[in-house]
Amino acid sequence: MASGALLIKNGRVIDPGRNFDQVASVLVRDGRISIVGEVPADQIPQGCQVIDATGLVVSPGFIDIHCHLREPGFEYKETIATGTRAGARGGFTSLCCMPNTEPPIDNAAVVDLIRRRSREDAVVRVHPVGCVTKGRKGKALAEMEELASAGVVAFSDDGDPVYDANIMRLALSYSADLGIPITNHCEEHALSRNGVMAEGWIATRLGLPGIPAAAEEAMIARDISLAELTGGRLHLAHITTSGAVPLLRQAKGKGLNVTAEVCPHHLTITDKWVLGTRGIESSGASTNAYDTSTKVYPPLRGGSDVEALIEGLADGLIDCIATDHAPHEPVSKQVTYNEAAFGISVLETALGSSLQLVHAGRMTLNSLVDRMTVGPARVLGPTFDELATLEPGTPADIVVFDSDLEWEVDPSKFESKGKNTPLRGTTLKGGVVTTIVEGKVVYTNAES
Ligand code: DOR
Repeated sequence: MASGALLIKNGRVIDPGRNFDQVASVLVRDGRISIVGEVPADQIPQGCQVIDATGLVVSPGFIDIHCHLREPGFEYKETIATGTRAGARGGFTSLCCMPNTEPPIDNAAVVDLIRRRSREDAVVRVHPVGCVTKGRKGKALAEMEELASAGVVAFSDDGDPVYDANIMRLALSYSADLGIPITNHCEEHALSRNGVMAEGWIATRLGLPGIPAAAEEAMIARDISLAELTGGRLHLAHITTSGAVPLLRQAKGKGLNVTAEVCPHHLTITDKWVLGTRGIESSGASTNAYDTSTKVYPPLRGGSDVEALIEGLADGLIDCIATDHAPHEPVSKQVTYNEAAFGISVLETALGSSLQLVHAGRMTLNSLVDRMTVGPARVLGPTFDELATLEPGTPADIVVFDSDLEWEVDPSKFESKGKNTPLRGTTLKGGVVTTIVEGKVVYTNAES
């Protein structure tokens, strides 16, 4: 992907890994960061492409450690081509794709296939996540060493938990040796059963089966015990409950190798969105109750959960934001709430959604950038460090964004095939202007 020279002039350069936050210019040469700061005129090569970033933020490209690109097997939902274009439009330069594909990513041949397709079709970096168990069936460990050698960056049966505690114990033991985290989708099925939204008065009023917070917390507690037993690297996928936060705090307090992610939707919208009226208290009839685009696993939860997650993210306890981008074809959402597929298309709204926390004064812009760059890199390990910084010499994966750009969410304009977002028609403040991977511009916002 490497290309010639590029000068990004006079932006607010935020590089949290180096505590760098000042107006500066960034010179890119041959796909790598060359200079950050004042760029002397005699250092600017002839024919250098120039981007004026005055009034804009320039940061390392975002790293998403949890998304679904659906290839192979579900190309009618998303492909590596469309998913990576969506990622670029969202400011992501690295996407870790989950293995609930068909076939699942449980052997080196499927990893190789994704790598080949990515070389042909991807506009941003794609890092496959391998299965924990064969076929994601939960019965026997996948060939984790083979998958590690093939280059997976994490292991997960995402979409499903690793049900069997002994298999999870073994997987965590191997993760310590391999230096690769196990990302568990924490869901105690005996508790979540046929639930479709958060348990509580809204589920009761709507007549929908609920999912209790304990379905998530029981498995988080189990996994933390197993991480302690094995010394393994546990990463908690998409945490959503206020009870998950102290569990994480306690685990980290003990010095365990446990990390966690939270999704933009769980930080910004609640189960009131299932009730309709976009979660706004209203005496009027709701026009969009049972909106299936709000159906996601784990479910949208209550206001006190959202509060706890924001606090945990702002103070650095929760390591990172991950999208859990879960694109679905329209038909799978054009059914009853009970029947609809779980998942939200998030890559293109993640920044605008998350920036609400900054605009509301809940966290600094610097911290937000940290949780979308350095945070995910820390979960994945040292090989990702160079993708999460603008340090001279590292690959030039960069996002330029306008934190004040207001835009209306129109899924018909999404690059993703997944138009399934509850944010349709809402206005977000903050949008990507340019995304650069290895020095090459892969996305430019024509409307900015
Ligand atoms: O809502 C979800 N959708 N949660 C998951 O864990 C899986 C995902 C999917 O693959 O559609």
